[in-house]
Amino acid sequence: MKVAPSLLSCDFAKMGEEVVRIDKAGADWIHLDVMDGHFVPNITIGPAIVKAVRQYTQLPFDVHLMIDYPLDYIDAFADAGADIITFHLEAQSEPDMTIEKIHERGIKAGVVIKPETPAEAVYPYLDRVYMVLVMTVQPGFGGQAFMADMMPKVTAIKKEAARRGIDILVEVDGGISEKTVAAAAKAGVDIVVSGTGVFKAEDPERAIEFLKNSDK
Ligand code: DX5
Ligand code: ZN
Repeated sequence: MKVAPSLLSCDFAKMGEEVVRIDKAGADWIHLDVMDGHFVPNITIGPAIVKAVRQYTQLPFDVHLMIDYPLDYIDAFADAGADIITFHLEAQSEPDMTIEKIHERGIKAGVVIKPETPAEAVYPYLDRVYMVLVMTVQPGFGGQAFMADMMPKVTAIKKEAARRGIDILVEVDGGISEKTVAAAAKAGVDIVVSGTGVFKAEDPERAIEFLKNSDK
C-alpha cells in the first residue's frame, strides 16, 4: 500500500518544513488539496503554493482538484510541478478534454468521484487514466469520518478494470487512519490519502509505516 499524506492537515505557515518532515517519515506521494470555494465550501491552496513547496521534496505531487473548472487550470498546475492531477467527474469541465489536456502536459491523470456518485461513472475513462480516486468523505474538509460503505465501489472498479485487462490504481481519500485502513486494504485499495491520520499522529513515521503494511 502506498501512502499519500495530505498537506491539508499540516501547519500552513511552515509548509516547506512540513513537506520535508513527512518525506523523511516515509511518505510515498504528497497529496495536495485544491479547493475553490465553489465546487466545495472551502478555499485552500492554488498553483503558487504548489510551486513554492515543490522545491522541498522529490516525491510525486498528487494534486486533487476540487474546483468547478479543472480544465482551465491544468496548465497552471502542470507549471507548478504536479505529477498526477485528479479532477472530479462532478465538476463542469468535459472529462475527456481534461484528461487529454493533462496528458498533453506529460502528467498522469486521474478521475475522482464523490460519495453519491456510483462506481459506473468512472468506467468510460478506465482505459485512459492512471488512477481512480474514490472519496471516502464529502470533499471539502479534513478530519471527517471514513465512509466504509464506499468500499463496494472500490471492489467494483477493480473488478471492471480486471475484466477489461486494464491496469489501474485506486486511491481513497478521507478519514483514513490506523483504525479504518483495514477496510480499504481489504477492498484492494492501492494508495491511501491521510491528512489528520499522519500529520496529527504522535509519531508520523510509525503511522505511515502502519498504513503501508496494512495490506500485508
Ligand atoms: C478532503 C480532502 C482530503 C483530506 C483528508 O476534501 O480531499 O484529502 O485532506 O483529510 P483526512 O485524512 O483528515 O480525512
Ligand atoms: Zn484530497
